[in-house]
Amino acid sequence: MAGCVAPRAVLLAAVLGGTLGCTSSCTCRGGRTDCTNKGLYFIPRDMEGDSHTVLLGYNHIGAITGLCLQRYRRMEHLDLRSNRISTIHSRAFRYQQNLTYLDLSANQLATIPAELFRPLANLLTLDLGNNRISELPGSALDSSLALDTLYLHNNALTGLAGPLLGNLGNLRHLRLDGNPWACTCQIQTLLNWIKQNPERLEERDRTLCGFPGYLDQYPLLGIQGDSFRQCQNLLSLSAQLYFLCIGLTLCIGSIGLCFAIGSLVVTCQHFQHWRKARPHMYRKSIVTRRDAIIYGHQLPECRT
Ligand SMILES: *[C@@H]1O[C@H](CO)[C@@H](O)[C@H](O)[C@H]1NC(C)=O
Repeated sequence: MAGCVAPRAVLLAAVLGGTLGCTSSCTCRGGRTDCTNKGLYFIPRDMEGDSHTVLLGYNHIGAITGLCLQRYRRMEHLDLRSNRISTIHSRAFRYQQNLTYLDLSANQLATIPAELFRPLANLLTLDLGNNRISELPGSALDSSLALDTLYLHNNALTGLAGPLLGNLGNLRHLRLDGNPWACTCQIQTLLNWIKQNPERLEERDRTLCGFPGYLDQYPLLGIQGDSFRQCQNLLSLSAQLYFLCIGLTLCIGSIGLCFAIGSLVVTCQHFQHWRKARPHMYRKSIVTRRDAIIYGHQLPECRT
């Protein structure tokens, strides 16, 4: 089994001269493994395999690889808050079908793999607050339909993909504050959801726009519905296609017209040139010959 042990952590474990599992660092009782604030740099491999609650908060864990959690299949509650996690393998949670509570808050996550939460069909609480997430894939929570609590506060999100919240019919607690929401046409779907379910949004007064400039720090819920009237015009697909067709027709038509006019002008010029050129040459040759006759000295002299 490839471990979750970073080289530095191996050294640390060697120096300590023991395992960092339950026997030394963690406290284990009744399926509950508590490794909170133990200076861990990795997820221990020797925790009790049948733990249903694993507390790993306030450590220095930097990554969750694909195999870190494979032994802990009975896990229902996993707390990884306040670590330094910046990377998570997209299949890190594939054996945690029974996980209902997942706390990844206060880490250094910037991206979330789209498939990461797919095995977590029983997830009720997901805390991703206080990270650096700038985008959450629209399908990230497609399988977690039971989700009751979703915390996304204090990240770098400017928008949420349309389908993300639409599928979560059981969502009761949502935090979106502390993100620089872009209050443009693209926020409409999210705003509609919030307006239809205002009681589900926590920290409403601190959920603010960060963009465009004139709406900076303006509460999301303060935006009037009719602010997006222009967007509706923009969003109408048939209207777009209609104008696209007209535009293309005009474009092709004008190019054709240019060609026609151009060809006509060139043809006219050719014709005029042809008509002028022939008499001119003829006249010129006559003049030259007459000149030659008049000013005979210009002809070669004949010698007898
Ligand atoms: C998941 O939970 C169900 C129902 O409580 C249980 O029967 C099953 O054994 C659990 N799965 C694992 C891998 O522990």
